[in-house]
Amino acid sequence: MSFLFRFYIYFIDIWKNIRTMPFYHKLGKIPHKRHTIFKKPDGGLYYEQLFGTIGFDGMSSNLYHVHRPTQVKEIKSSYDVSPKIAIENNIKSYRFHGFKTTPEDDFLESRKTVLHNSDCSITLAAPRQSTKDYFYKNADADELLFIHKGKGKLRTQFGNLNFKYGDYLLVPRGVIYKIDFETSDNRLFIVESRRPIYTPKRYRNHFGQLLEHSPFCERDIRQPYELETNDEKGDFLIKVRKQDRIFDMVYATHPFDVVGYDGYNYPYAFSIHDFEPITGRVHQPPPVHQTFETDAFVVCSFCPRLYDYHPEAIPAPYNHSNIDSDEVLYYVDGDFMSRNDIEAGHISLHPAGIPHGPHPGAAERSIGKTETEELAVMVDTFKPLQVTEEGMKIADDSYHKSWLE
Ligand SMILES: [Fe+2]
Repeated sequence: MSFLFRFYIYFIDIWKNIRTMPFYHKLGKIPHKRHTIFKKPDGGLYYEQLFGTIGFDGMSSNLYHVHRPTQVKEIKSSYDVSPKIAIENNIKSYRFHGFKTTPEDDFLESRKTVLHNSDCSITLAAPRQSTKDYFYKNADADELLFIHKGKGKLRTQFGNLNFKYGDYLLVPRGVIYKIDFETSDNRLFIVESRRPIYTPKRYRNHFGQLLEHSPFCERDIRQPYELETNDEKGDFLIKVRKQDRIFDMVYATHPFDVVGYDGYNYPYAFSIHDFEPITGRVHQPPPVHQTFETDAFVVCSFCPRLYDYHPEAIPAPYNHSNIDSDEVLYYVDGDFMSRNDIEAGHISLHPAGIPHGPHPGAAERSIGKTETEELAVMVDTFKPLQVTEEGMKIADDSYHKSWLE
């Protein structure tokens, strides 16, 4: 192998590594070496499971189970959960009234996909109750759950994460979970991604550490704690989402039977309130708000911050043509400076191909203001989004004319 080729491979390796969530985590008991004898107190073996992504090339964790994680007892019925598309080719700006989605008792039934493409789905959920009778696993997509209203605990085989208003919960595909709510008035904004979700690589050094100019650091990322090890046999229903169907699979042992694990692939939490906004003398573009990235879309957090401090700055954004990406904004709290008649729970869709910008009067209103309390989550997708039938139920059909003077 030539020196130059080795050099090339070395940098490809570095590039791969900085595209991970490079944050080693260990919880519970693990053996000193991978793939070696790890005995239970009764002399039997714990069962090792490599939980990896991108073949054997992406992030992975090694888990140690009390029972084999492969004990399928029965595959019951399956049912279709693919989003029903109402508008396949869209060029119209929309506003959706997110809080008009009807609450449902069940977590999965409450999930209503409003926007969709082959890379991601944007889903609203208003579950009233915790998941009780089943476990859930999304085998198609990483899930980013933003907690707009509600408080509780995400339970997984990697340990638990407490959540409350403002938390992003990142659940990598394949993680088995339950969600326990202490509250009944819950509102979630969910992005399902068929590409792995990472934090932006430009904020990481070659070793994966978050750099000083990053708007968040390792201390802001909450890792799972409270590993639950259930040594139980019986009938355990896991609802597995795969290829837009839910398969009801019955396993013979409790899915949360892990005594320990280590690695880089696990669910974690990050609060939008811990995002430190980057500001400037003049208007800063959306990438300064970027929080997560994939190959197919980005997620940004618009947080309360000081406004631009050039004496003649216009803090409201300029008109812009997102020629090659659809822009979705989910309004969480505060007065959103660039829009009229926007409330918490609203979603705006500004599709690729046409310019959009502040509503009439918004730029003028913003001049001289020193700060904003706006709080919003933005998803910019590189492929066009389709509007679903669920989306059309809560759509404001006249929003696209809201810039007329
Ligand atoms: Fe925009």
